[in-house]
Amino acid sequence: MASDEEIKCTVKQLLAQLFEQSLRTTVPDEPDVEPLVAACTGKFGDYQCNNAMGLWSKIKGKGTQFRGPPSVGQAIMGNLPPSEMIESSSVAGPGFVNVVLSKDWMAKKIQKMLIDGIDTWAPRISVKRAVVDFSSPNIAKEMHVGHLRSTIIGDALARMLEFSKVEVLRRNHVGDWGTQFGMLIEFLFEKFPNSEDVNEAAIGDLQKFYKASKERFDADSAFKEKAQQAVVRLQGGEHKYRQAWAKICEISRMEFDKVYQRLGVLLEEKGESFYNPYIPGVIEALSNQGLVEESEGARVIFIKGINIPLIVVKSDGGYNYASTDLTALWYRLNEEKAEWIIYVTDVGQQQHFDMVFKAAKRAGWLPDDGNTYPKTNHVGFGLVLGEDGKRFRTRSSEVVRLVDLLDEAKSRSKDALIERGKDKEWTEEELEHTAEAVGYGAVKYADLKNNRLTNYTFNFDQMLNDKGNTAVYLLYAHARICSIIRKSGKDIEELKKTETIALDHADERALGLHLLQFAEVVEEACNNLLPNVLCEYLYNLSEYFTKFYSNCQVVGSAEETSRLLICEATATVMRKCFHLLGIVPVYKI
Ligand code: ARG
Repeated sequence: MASDEEIKCTVKQLLAQLFEQSLRTTVPDEPDVEPLVAACTGKFGDYQCNNAMGLWSKIKGKGTQFRGPPSVGQAIMGNLPPSEMIESSSVAGPGFVNVVLSKDWMAKKIQKMLIDGIDTWAPRISVKRAVVDFSSPNIAKEMHVGHLRSTIIGDALARMLEFSKVEVLRRNHVGDWGTQFGMLIEFLFEKFPNSEDVNEAAIGDLQKFYKASKERFDADSAFKEKAQQAVVRLQGGEHKYRQAWAKICEISRMEFDKVYQRLGVLLEEKGESFYNPYIPGVIEALSNQGLVEESEGARVIFIKGINIPLIVVKSDGGYNYASTDLTALWYRLNEEKAEWIIYVTDVGQQQHFDMVFKAAKRAGWLPDDGNTYPKTNHVGFGLVLGEDGKRFRTRSSEVVRLVDLLDEAKSRSKDALIERGKDKEWTEEELEHTAEAVGYGAVKYADLKNNRLTNYTFNFDQMLNDKGNTAVYLLYAHARICSIIRKSGKDIEELKKTETIALDHADERALGLHLLQFAEVVEEACNNLLPNVLCEYLYNLSEYFTKFYSNCQVVGSAEETSRLLICEATATVMRKCFHLLGIVPVYKI
């Protein structure tokens, strides 16, 4: 039986340990060679070790006993320590060492996961604390589909890191500071001379309020002047102005929360205003290092290879988006002691972050190479397009309100359930719950399944289709597995303890291997910050299951108990995938 220590490792890591031992014996004079192990794509094995070729070019001039890469490969294979995880191994082509896993070992490992829980399959990431800066809409301005993408992608990344035992600070870096507040506050005073009257109901739609105040600002120069003074008084901390600002922020926050609640996303707000008091100190420290220079009245940091400088103090003496981001980075590194700081925004902001990160490297806050910790990453994403191929808008070319969009996803999925007669079978509560899980799940999955850098077209019919690579299809697949287990009439908890899994049929083995690869896929998705890698895994899992289910009779067969356990393992891994993608699983359909 595998030890507890082993259970924590991915199959790839376990094999890497074996190959590492073999390499130490094979080439004792090359102690730094890292084992290169990868899952096989061909039919020769399950995993392969790719060290022979590289190793040969290292040692060939040095009077070695080997005659070429294949003989290095043979030696690597021959020196593998005996292990119950390996069934057989062979050398192919120019020296690849292929390994076929033992199906008994695979079966035991899956069974152990069923007993000890899927969390024992969590990968290990060598970071203690990370910041994921995501969603981050702007107060009083619209929360648009770009923010929806940031929310969905950021939440999935946070969930995957949390599963990998990383402490994640889920940061909502809301735009709650800036010159627009002068205008908003002045407009608020005008409309509500009595501050008691200010509340959400009175203001109504903050977006409309913003628009109206902007119109006033552009049309009336006296108002404009007052608004500019209001900014100064707000930033000076004058009570009445701070209070009005806080009110506007609070109303916006209630709007944002409606979206987060529907999506089941947790965020902790530390908006731009939070970092404001720290900005002067950070800029002074950077100035003392000689990094801040004068340029056209502004104070800037020059960055090698980029022809515009990073402005850290505007020519009017005010701070900007970059001053705040530099300071927030400083705070996250020094006060919050985060080792990995991840920013999720549209690709349009890539240069901004590139400059902030490079400035931080110049200041010595971050190592130069970008690989060692602490490190920063900008996770960029493409646009959401409408059917017309242009930016996603409503018919009247307004920005789509996220709450409306989620409501529509839910009501469409509810209609589809009613069409299938579920309103007669289920309680109202079940119907609502399933409609939400499927509707919101569909929106999330349609976003996450693409490589985040590509633009994608928003299409309800497509995302709510029950065929193809959609959340609906996958949720149904999961529900169907649950129903197979239910209908068998067997107590699955009892079977886990008393019966054993066997992977004798080729389709059982292929499904089993895919299940075992779950942890390394999550690890890859985390390291490369690509949730679509997990979506692809999940979709393939359902395909492997379909193949298994059509070729291996479950209920009523001689292998019934083993196969029910394979069903349960598949459902367990699927559920974990849903969870990591922020999708609520459904159990009946
Ligand atoms: N509020 C910004 C926007 O709506 C996104 C903020 C992203 N985070 C950051 N630290 N700059 O575009």
